[in-house]
Amino acid sequence: MQRRVFIQALLAGVSTAVMLPFSKLPAAAQTNQLTPLPIPELMRGELKDGVRVYNLNMQRGTHEFFAGVKTPTLGINASYLGSTLKMRAGEKIRLNVTNNIGETTTLHWHGLHLPAKADGGPHQVIEPGKTWSPEFKVIQEAATFWYHSHMHEKTGEQVWRGLAGVIIVEDNKTNALNLPNQYGVDDIPVVLQERQFSRDGGLYYGNSRHNMMMGMSGDVPVVNGAVAPVFTAKTQKIRLRILNGSNASFYNLGFDDNRKFLQIGSDGSLLPESFETTRLELGPGERAEIIVDVSDGKQTVLASYGDTGTSPMGRGMMMGRGMMMGGGGSSQFEFLLIKPEGTLTASAEVPQKLVSLDRLSAKDANKTRRFNLEMTMGPMMMMGLGTPFTINGKAMDMRRIDEVIKLGDTEIWQIHNSSALPHPFHIHDIQFQILDRNGTPPGPGERGLKDTVTVNSGETVRIIAKFEDYADDKRPFMYHCHILEHEDAGMMGQFTVVA
Ligand code: C2O
Ligand code: CU
Ligand code: CU
Repeated sequence: MQRRVFIQALLAGVSTAVMLPFSKLPAAAQTNQLTPLPIPELMRGELKDGVRVYNLNMQRGTHEFFAGVKTPTLGINASYLGSTLKMRAGEKIRLNVTNNIGETTTLHWHGLHLPAKADGGPHQVIEPGKTWSPEFKVIQEAATFWYHSHMHEKTGEQVWRGLAGVIIVEDNKTNALNLPNQYGVDDIPVVLQERQFSRDGGLYYGNSRHNMMMGMSGDVPVVNGAVAPVFTAKTQKIRLRILNGSNASFYNLGFDDNRKFLQIGSDGSLLPESFETTRLELGPGERAEIIVDVSDGKQTVLASYGDTGTSPMGRGMMMGRGMMMGGGGSSQFEFLLIKPEGTLTASAEVPQKLVSLDRLSAKDANKTRRFNLEMTMGPMMMMGLGTPFTINGKAMDMRRIDEVIKLGDTEIWQIHNSSALPHPFHIHDIQFQILDRNGTPPGPGERGLKDTVTVNSGETVRIIAKFEDYADDKRPFMYHCHILEHEDAGMMGQFTVVA
């Protein structure tokens, strides 16, 4: 509770009212209390001999979440979070990643299809002072991906302190759709997180049993590293590339005036068709692209609501999520104020048809694998020994390969959650399609390519994917729960793809 005292003190002293919900700020005070939404530097890399090269510096620094308070942080070419990497489908790239954070780390390209040795998972450790230079071809649909630390048993803490950034992949096909695509103007990366702060202004990362069980969540919403940010819209429509970059929180997003918006993308592609909604559910690690129309000139607040009542998925997960949030079911945050300018530049109509994806069906599969997500509370757990989190009865072991997949095979992964909490299940290397949830085909927001899918308590989700291009019988890829504390506690397994 002392953490909250710190924030109250800060409010009274340094920067009054900054933590008040936007809706409670006096109208006149609204703009000068707020921080302009930071837009991470866009890094396009440099073309050298046909390879696009990105130089990334993982560094320590300090970051002002609150005016005048220097919080020690980690970042990539920045004090907190990292540059946005723009990639073009079909290009060959090299990423020179230098570790200057003073401790071992890794950098993982979440959602990208690549050779296992370039993945940046727990096996690709970068020692302090060293540079790691993976090289691979960008074989993706245009979408929003991200990168983050994947240090074994330290991922939660390193990401919490700032080691994450956004990747934008573009291609000609989707550029021709006339969607908003001016970075920082009408095409905006939106990294949603919440953090806890300690009395000295540091980021507070707990390692209690409770923090491990529930995952780390915070009481201060942060967007692109800013508390109480405002984005000034200059165009009628804006495209938000939203990443749930939190360690453990499920967001149920919408606008405070309940305005409708279009969802156009999921984790690894645009959707086959755009669709209108008022709510967007995103679990940790998931992304979505939305188009918000502000041509009415009215300001609006992007917020997370604890309820799931108006969700298009209508999955009735209130109970599970409520528990997740530590009682009360409130992951209610006001994230971002959007304020349109007096005169707005016209934006093109958003087409309904966006991309055509080859739909895989269950009969295309060579094999079905079953995964059971479990939390056990046996006597060992009570003594604080071992991990309560397992997949198919096993906790992560770096020396054990759990699954061996034949290169070129199409597989169904049937993921069942027999625990009391929801788990966002993530698979490296591939983009998958959701076949069904408890036998029901996915809603419109889940019909694009995915690499992370929330599996609710008691639910069974079937996904399907083809494992192509890269075989390596020594180096594994990971699959895991993307609640980073669950992952760090062992809710992860390893697979190889072999020729
Ligand atoms: Cu986003 Cu294995 O990670
Ligand atoms: Cu990943
Ligand atoms: Cu989990």
